[in-house]
Amino acid sequence: MSAPNASGWKPTAPQANDEAGPATTTGNRALMLEEKLIFEIGGSETTGVDLPEPRGDAPHRLGAQLRTGEIGLPGLSEPEAVRHYTRLSRQNYAIDLGLFPLGSCTMKHNPRLNEKVARMPGFLDCHPLAPVHTVQGALAVIHELGEWLKALTGMPAVAMSPKAGAHGELCGILAIRAALEARGDARQVILCPESAHGTNPATAAFAGYKVEDIPATAEGRVDLAALKARLGPDVAGVMITNPNTCGLFERDFREIADAVHAAGGLVYCDGANFNAIVGRVRPGDLGVDAMHINLHKTFSTPHGGGGPGSGPVVFSEALAPFAPLPFVEKLASGEYRLVEEETAEDHHARSFGRMTAFHGQMGMFTRALTYILSHGADGLRQVAEDAVLNANYILRSLDDVLDAPFGLSGPCMHEALFSDKGFAGGLTTLDLAKGMIDEGFHPMTMYFPLVVHGAMLVEPTETESKAALDQFVTAMRSLAERARAGDETLKQAPYYAPRRRLDETLAARKPVLAWHAPAAPAGMPTLSEQGGS
Ligand SMILES: Cc1ncc(COP(=O)(O)O)c(C=O)c1O
Repeated sequence: MSAPNASGWKPTAPQANDEAGPATTTGNRALMLEEKLIFEIGGSETTGVDLPEPRGDAPHRLGAQLRTGEIGLPGLSEPEAVRHYTRLSRQNYAIDLGLFPLGSCTMKHNPRLNEKVARMPGFLDCHPLAPVHTVQGALAVIHELGEWLKALTGMPAVAMSPKAGAHGELCGILAIRAALEARGDARQVILCPESAHGTNPATAAFAGYKVEDIPATAEGRVDLAALKARLGPDVAGVMITNPNTCGLFERDFREIADAVHAAGGLVYCDGANFNAIVGRVRPGDLGVDAMHINLHKTFSTPHGGGGPGSGPVVFSEALAPFAPLPFVEKLASGEYRLVEEETAEDHHARSFGRMTAFHGQMGMFTRALTYILSHGADGLRQVAEDAVLNANYILRSLDDVLDAPFGLSGPCMHEALFSDKGFAGGLTTLDLAKGMIDEGFHPMTMYFPLVVHGAMLVEPTETESKAALDQFVTAMRSLAERARAGDETLKQAPYYAPRRRLDETLAARKPVLAWHAPAAPAGMPTLSEQGGS
C-alpha cells in the first residue's frame, strides 16, 4: 500500500466571533471533525490498491480507448477513504441516532430482520431477465405481498410495479383515464382538496388533467358541500389524501365517494398515510377505486433506499381490467406466471400499458413482506394504533405552548400539526426548527400543509418509546417558550451544528452542485478536460 496522502490537513484560521465557544485551529469542534471534499483530500499520487502492471498485449487490445493521462480520480488509502465517509456520516442525522420528527414520509425504523431477508442470495441476486422457472420463489414473494395488500385494503386487484408513491399515483390516474376512455367519456377535470398531498395535483396535471382545488373546512377536512357543488359531467374524479396532510381522517370519505360515483367520476385515494389506519380501516369499504401504498411508510422499507422504492396500487372491480402489465399470477399447479402481454381472453385485456420496463423492486418486496409476516394482521393494527397514540401524546403535550389549529376538534391521526401563532419578536417556524438542531433533533416537516400558517407537522411513528417522546417534548416545550418570548438568540441558531445558517435562498436558486478541480500541474490534464467534474 502506498504512503498516506500528504495533502490532507492544514490548519485553518481560528473562526472569529464564534458564539459557541472559542475557535479551534483545526476547525474541528470536539469530536465533530471538519471534512473536505474527497477530491481535496485524495491526491493522484496515492492509491489504496497496488495493482500489477498490465502484461502481454492487454494495452493494445484497448486500441483508441487506451488512456493517455491520469483519470483524475482521488487516490486514498483504505483508512483515509473509510474515515472520510465515516466523518461525513457523523455530520448527518439518522433514525438510528434518535427520534426523527419528519416521520415515515422520510424515514422510520427499518427492522434489521427485513435487511437479513432482503440479503438472502436468492432474492438479492434475482435478475429481471432470469427465466421465470428459476425465480419462482421471488414471484411467490411478489404474489403473496400483493395478496396481503389486497386483503388489508379490501380491494380486488393490485399492481406491484410502480416504483414510488408518486409513480403509483400516476398509475392510478392512468387507469382512471383508460376506464373513462373505454366508455367514450373524455372528462378533463380532477378535483384535489387543499388538504391533499402536493404530489396529487402534480400527478393529475402530468397526466393531462385540469386540476381544480376544493377548499378545506375550518376543521381541516374536505369541504363536502363545495365538492358536491363542483361535481358534473366534466369531472373525471377526485384525488384525496386520507388520512390527510393535516393529520386528520376524512370522515366524509364514503359520502364523497358515493357522490363522485353518482356523478360518473372515479375516486383516487392517496394512501401514503395508510400506516395510520392499517388493520382498522379498509379503503375498499370507503368506495376507493385506486390507491397507492408507500411501502416505506406503512411497511418499513427504506424510502427508495439504494435503488427504486415501491408504491403498489390497489384497484376496485371497476378499474381492475385497466391495471398495468406485467403482473404475477398463481396457476392452479401452484407455479407462478409473469403475465407480460395482453391476451384477448385475459382479464387484463384492456390494460393501459406498462409503468416500468421490469416487474418490481425485490429489495422492497422482501422487506415489506417480512415486516407484514413478522407482525401479522393483529400486529399491523397495533402499529397503526401506536403511531396514532404517539402523535396524540405529542399533540397534547405541546398544545398549551404551541398553537394546534385543529387540535380542538379532536384527536389527530399519525401526525400532530402546529402553527407559529403566538411567536413573538418576528421569530418564525424556521427559527424554532434551527433551534431543534442545537437540541439534537432533525427538524420536523415545515411550512406544509399550506393551509396552516408556519406549519409544523410532527410524525413520531410507532416505534418511539415514551422516554424518547418525553425527551422530544421537553426540547420542543423549551423552544416554543423561547419563540413565544421573542428570544433573539433563536435567530442565530444553530450554534452547535457543523455549519451554522446557510443562505437558503441562494442554496435553492443557485446551488453549486459540481466541484471543479483547481488548475492541474503542467502536463496533467484537468478533470474537465477529461469530461469529469
Ligand atoms: C401523502 C403522500 N403522498 C405521496 C407521497 C409521495 O410518495 P413518494 O415519495 O414515494 O413518491 C408521500 C411521500 O411519502 C406522501 O406522504
